[in-house]
Amino acid sequence: MSRQPSASPVVYSDRFQTPAAVAEYEAQEYGAGSYASFIWDLQRPALEKIVADFRRARPGPVRLLDFACGTGRVISALEPLVDAAEGIDISENMVAVARKKCRAARLLVGDILSPPEILQKEYDLITSFRFLLNAEPELRRCILKKLRAVLRAPDGLLIVNVHGNSHSLRQPAIRWRRWRERTQKTGVMLNALSPAATRRLLHESGFQVVRQFGFGILPPTLHRTSLRGAAAAVDRFFAGENFWCDFSIDLMFVCRPC
Ligand SMILES: C[S@@+](CC[C@H](N)C(=O)[O-])C[C@H]1O[C@@H](n2cnc3c(N)ncnc32)[C@H](O)[C@@H]1O
Repeated sequence: MSRQPSASPVVYSDRFQTPAAVAEYEAQEYGAGSYASFIWDLQRPALEKIVADFRRARPGPVRLLDFACGTGRVISALEPLVDAAEGIDISENMVAVARKKCRAARLLVGDILSPPEILQKEYDLITSFRFLLNAEPELRRCILKKLRAVLRAPDGLLIVNVHGNSHSLRQPAIRWRRWRERTQKTGVMLNALSPAATRRLLHESGFQVVRQFGFGILPPTLHRTSLRGAAAAVDRFFAGENFWCDFSIDLMFVCRPC
């Protein structure tokens, strides 16, 4: 059943409801050669290694939940690495694309904050990519608390991604675009969260950050110029779990329940 988008102002849960929004996400945001695809190529091996190491260290089967799974980018990469994978999203149209990419994952459409309850009780691993940054502050908190309640304690893992760091070199361009947006009103989302604010939010929601990774140091604009090759080499060099991750554009936090 399709959710009816509410009237403006845009609510984040409505943003990816329409076929047009889904097509834009797949064809432009994650189109061939896009900046987001470049970042995912850097991020994917690190994420796969965390999941594979976690699986290897556990005695029993590993059950994964990918919250806000969207078109299935993350869950389709991780489903071969776990024993059971479940993806949940509020947009029927996003999940319809995910169904084409996934082989084994169980994909559900629904709102985890409203009855009927669609979540299982104890997931070993929860991932959530490109959700937190643009969700409204209250929604972020409610979702994180709900995810905390269904993550196995004390040894479960939450891997959460924030795709706009306010302490990165992209921030001057974001400020300029925010200023332009006041008159042009394109509806583009220009949010940013700092690593410290994210860690605080996670802590207040019952998680302790145990590892932090960063991807993409240079302004994305450089990737659209003739310096693209050099920019890619620099970003590759600085990607991962290192001192620079507090300044990377795209952040990935590995958390334990606390
Ligand atoms: C930017 S997309 C990210 C999709 C996917 N995680 C990825 O990284 O490609 C954000 C997703 O969050 C979903 N979403 C927004 N609000 C939600 C909510 N309240 N519950 C579940 N999913 C939600 C949207 O439908 C959309 O698919």
